[in-house]
Amino acid sequence: MQILQNISLKPYNTFGIDAIASHFVSVSNIDDLKAILKLKDYPEKFILGGGSNMLITKDINALVVHINLKGISIISENDDFVTVKANAGENWHEFVLWCLKHDFGGIENMSLIPGNVGTSPIQNIGAYGVELKDTFVSCEGLDLNSKKIKSFDKQACHFGYRNSIFKQEAKGQFIITSVTFKLTKRNHKLNINYGTISDELEQKGIKNPTIQDISKAVITIRESKLPNPKVIGNSGSFFKNPVISKAKYDNLIKNFSDLPSYPVSDTQVKVPAGWLIEKAGFKGKRFGNYGVHNKQALVLVNYGDASGEDILNLSKLIQKTVEQIFNITIEAEVNIL
Ligand code: EPU
Repeated sequence: MQILQNISLKPYNTFGIDAIASHFVSVSNIDDLKAILKLKDYPEKFILGGGSNMLITKDINALVVHINLKGISIISENDDFVTVKANAGENWHEFVLWCLKHDFGGIENMSLIPGNVGTSPIQNIGAYGVELKDTFVSCEGLDLNSKKIKSFDKQACHFGYRNSIFKQEAKGQFIITSVTFKLTKRNHKLNINYGTISDELEQKGIKNPTIQDISKAVITIRESKLPNPKVIGNSGSFFKNPVISKAKYDNLIKNFSDLPSYPVSDTQVKVPAGWLIEKAGFKGKRFGNYGVHNKQALVLVNYGDASGEDILNLSKLIQKTVEQIFNITIEAEVNIL
């Protein structure tokens, strides 16, 4: 374990922002992690997971602790179900592929989501009709105060849409070290109702899809809409889809009759931020080396050496314009640092 100085964080954040960490260490086991956290010489510590849900807007004058805990293990199984524990530093998509190789079902719709296993519960990742919480059993987190490992079951995590206790009451208090899932071994529960998935399977002529077919369909859809962070820096959806009152929605469709909506409750609906941003004229707009993705307006992109501040300012301009046109506030989904 070596503490490095003045390290560029460009390879460690999917936006590809070239911010500098004054100090940097990568940890691959819990004992090292505990030892690092006790170091008094570095009072400021910054925990870095997969770097897929953050926009770094300035250099980080702290000890950046890169969580590189690896390992996947089967905890228990019977004929129908298997309980699998994955350590926080495993790449999410590689974990999905590992499950598919073993024919373990439940997370195939979340193929190709960038980031690591450890960050998946923080924002309850989700895609194509499935969320992390659907297969989640528990996770373990290292308490930054007591330096002890605490276990959180599903209820304790307070999962919501792109939300959990780790973004609210427990924000910044725990380092997630592992996540445990309950997956199916047979009679997989397929989620193909999300429009684009069934279209994709139909196009491929697949009538009785396997979980592997679903994963491939999701990968095709995502690759057609979302930029690959290894090629164009991005952080997936930059904004959350806003929830508005039905009364407001009814008012809006008088002027915008094609505004899509998804039910949330008797009185509220969710509307796609991507649609609002596209209507506001930003889709595909490029400002030098950053801009708005041309196939999905919810995704802001770094084409080259954009700074985090450039992208933050663009996000503010988008928020202001959407607010002016629709009287709807859209909130960032990514963490802004
Ligand atoms: N839309 C537009 N223009 C756009 C983008 C979307 O009009 O530029 C419209 C679409 O036509 C559609 C609706 O918005 O009617 C929804 O679009 P889509 O199915 O692409 O999903 P989304 O709501 O934009 C969410 C997640 C994505 C996830 C997809 C698929 C959020 C913030 N985003 O996007 O998650 O992959 O659904 O399930 O909930 C992420 O979190 O990083 C992410 C990519």
